[in-house]
Amino acid sequence: MEISFSATRPSGDYALVLPVGGKDQGALTTLGDQAAGIRAALARQRFEGEAGTAAELFIDDAGAVRRLLVVGTGAGTSPGDAAEKLGGTVAARLLLSGETRAIIDLTGRNYDADSAARLALATALRAWRYDRYRTKLKDKQKPTLASITIVGAGEGAENRYAERWQPVLEGVKLTRELVTEPANIIYPASFVERCRHLEQLGVEIEVLDGAAMAKLGMSALLGVNQGSVREPQLLVMRWNGGGQGAPPVAFVGKGVTFDTGGISIKPAQGMEAMKWDMGGAGAVAGAMKALALRKAKANIAGVCGLVENMPSGNAQRPGDVVTTMSGQTVEVINTDAEGRLVLADAITYTQQKLKPTTIIDLATLTGAILVSLGHEYGGLFTPDDKLAADLMDVSAATGEKLWRQPLNDSFDRLTDSPIADTKNLGPREGGSIPAAQFIKRFVDDGVRWAHLDIAGMVWSDKAGDTFDKGATGYGVRLLDRFVSDKLEG
Ligand code: BES
Ligand code: MN
Ligand code: ZN
Repeated sequence: MEISFSATRPSGDYALVLPVGGKDQGALTTLGDQAAGIRAALARQRFEGEAGTAAELFIDDAGAVRRLLVVGTGAGTSPGDAAEKLGGTVAARLLLSGETRAIIDLTGRNYDADSAARLALATALRAWRYDRYRTKLKDKQKPTLASITIVGAGEGAENRYAERWQPVLEGVKLTRELVTEPANIIYPASFVERCRHLEQLGVEIEVLDGAAMAKLGMSALLGVNQGSVREPQLLVMRWNGGGQGAPPVAFVGKGVTFDTGGISIKPAQGMEAMKWDMGGAGAVAGAMKALALRKAKANIAGVCGLVENMPSGNAQRPGDVVTTMSGQTVEVINTDAEGRLVLADAITYTQQKLKPTTIIDLATLTGAILVSLGHEYGGLFTPDDKLAADLMDVSAATGEKLWRQPLNDSFDRLTDSPIADTKNLGPREGGSIPAAQFIKRFVDDGVRWAHLDIAGMVWSDKAGDTFDKGATGYGVRLLDRFVSDKLEG
């Protein structure tokens, strides 16, 4: 999607979009003597300007037939709040409409530069789709909308978009691509290759293969990959935009490029969804891209534990005991509870080698979080009230919703093992909590830590304001905003 900004409406062929806040239809006065007729047409469609609604009609614009899309932004909402929903509605309505160009006219609507820039972001986010493998799309099924011009935005909107929000768009696009690609295309090594271009943006990349990880004693992560013919990878990305030598904040992602469950194999029904069991790692990669593109003034590390969980003659067995990089031993009761094994070693590596002040891990960790929070909230686990408050702030600011979940040492007894220091399986009830408690065992004293269980958020079966059905890109905006509001500010 090509995005541009302009002070005045251009001439030529385009669909005209006018936002209308509730019953206040002031925007229509720009249509001159046609306004009255249009108001009547809108009333006949029972259009009342509620947020997310839209009405379409064709008007005569100096002799040319023009599509007019009137989009409701809700009564009394500020442009800032309404902007993203407006952008999403425009893209959803016009993407396949046959129109190639749209003008969103904000004249007189009091959109400040940031709101107008976020409108642009939302339009592009909602228009994203991945058609690489659709070779037989009919013309009518192909997107037509290629460019959006925002007219009458506040001074500085264009710069604001380029400097602050286009980087986020590019980050989310990378995440969605990684998440959408199937597991025969995205596996640990190819995930790394898709992130290589971040080096050109100034991100330092270091990659550990299986042998390098074996040397460090990362047997928990390696055990998960043991049944796979693919090489596991630990992808370490560093963006040093902050003070020289200042310790980083680290984002750690679960990157299981396919989760069959291993020997504790999953049922066939719906197993294809487990191609996106790398959504945490995908979000970390996308966030690093956004931060590098906007040259964030902070030191950030992004670490992705990349493995494939397969059954095979060489796969790890239930009951196997592995020694983690931390030295703690784990009895692997269920090979499908693999995410926590990957994170354990990825977190230990991060602490030992990168010495971060703070670790935020993101993982499609448990089906149980879907039972508790559905597809509306990611689960936030942290013992640190300040970090929880910070993450809730950025959650509210970005619309990537989080809900805090409990941690309590009383859960630790439930993962006692008769043979090792702990086991990787707790009770089914409240299953996301013992999973989080397990990860906590690998976090060193003095390191601030939060765990985001995003199993319900990475993929959506229905479209949202800023995404079509499929990969959402959840997590990128959260991490980006955490850096801008809590580390840079
Ligand atoms: N990747 C899954 C969790 C998951 C489930 C993500 C559904 C997205 C949608 C994870 O590795 C897993 O298999 N978890 C098990 C844990 C159990 C064996 C303790 C689960 O949730 O069933
Ligand atoms: Mn699993
Ligand atoms: Zn998994």
